[in-house]
Amino acid sequence: MNESPIEKNRPLEISPEQTVRELVVNYPVLRPQLEKLGIDYCCGGLRPLSEAVQSAGLEWSAAEQALEQAWSSAQSEVPSVDWNAASLTALADHILEKHHTFTKEQLLRLDELLRKVQRAHGEKHGEMLSQLRQLFDGLDDELSEHLLKEERILFPAIKDIDAFVSGTGARPVVHCGIIENPIRQMMLEHDHAGNVLVDIRRLTGNYGLPDDACQTFAALYDGLQALEADLHEHIHLENNILFPKSMVQEATMNS
Ligand SMILES: [Fe+2]
Ligand SMILES: [Fe+2]
Repeated sequence: MNESPIEKNRPLEISPEQTVRELVVNYPVLRPQLEKLGIDYCCGGLRPLSEAVQSAGLEWSAAEQALEQAWSSAQSEVPSVDWNAASLTALADHILEKHHTFTKEQLLRLDELLRKVQRAHGEKHGEMLSQLRQLFDGLDDELSEHLLKEERILFPAIKDIDAFVSGTGARPVVHCGIIENPIRQMMLEHDHAGNVLVDIRRLTGNYGLPDDACQTFAALYDGLQALEADLHEHIHLENNILFPKSMVQEATMNS
């Protein structure tokens, strides 16, 4: 696999004008800190960093300092994989194995947890829980269909293009037309899933548990937050790395 560890001991180059995508692709170890700061680095990757910082309700100087601290502590940590340097096939396989598997398992688990919480707390929190159920079911349906489209159509097309460009496969026939069309559709679906997660966060008061919450209620909120964090990383890898690089490779194939 064509991966390389993150380059160490280089200064963090950060500016208000650079896009969030540029920052997170060049410094992927900053992702957990961006997540913690509430800076949208996946669906909102094309926005200037200053705008994303402002949307997260932060002062520029505080965000800059937090990112610099995260960068300097990352220098002493175990190197993580630089997916920007990996092959498209390796990245697509990683997304499927890690994120698609997790999302499917987590949706099933959360469906069951929500059912239990609705049963136990329906009397006191029925209105909020039925709104949560509506949002969750919509997200579940959309994501399940989305994953299937990537697994059956888009990712195999990306891998075929990668095989051809790297000299290990025949010239593929891309059934869905230029790859940009399905990619654009997937990105719209990412935006929508991201918005539903924002709605869920708002509905639950930032996952603040009610005083009478039981362990199952806590597990439900923990699980929803884990789904959200994983989805952010998943969408970042697709929107910021896999999709733009696939379009470049398709152009190379056709040139
Ligand atoms: Fe995906
Ligand atoms: Fe996706």
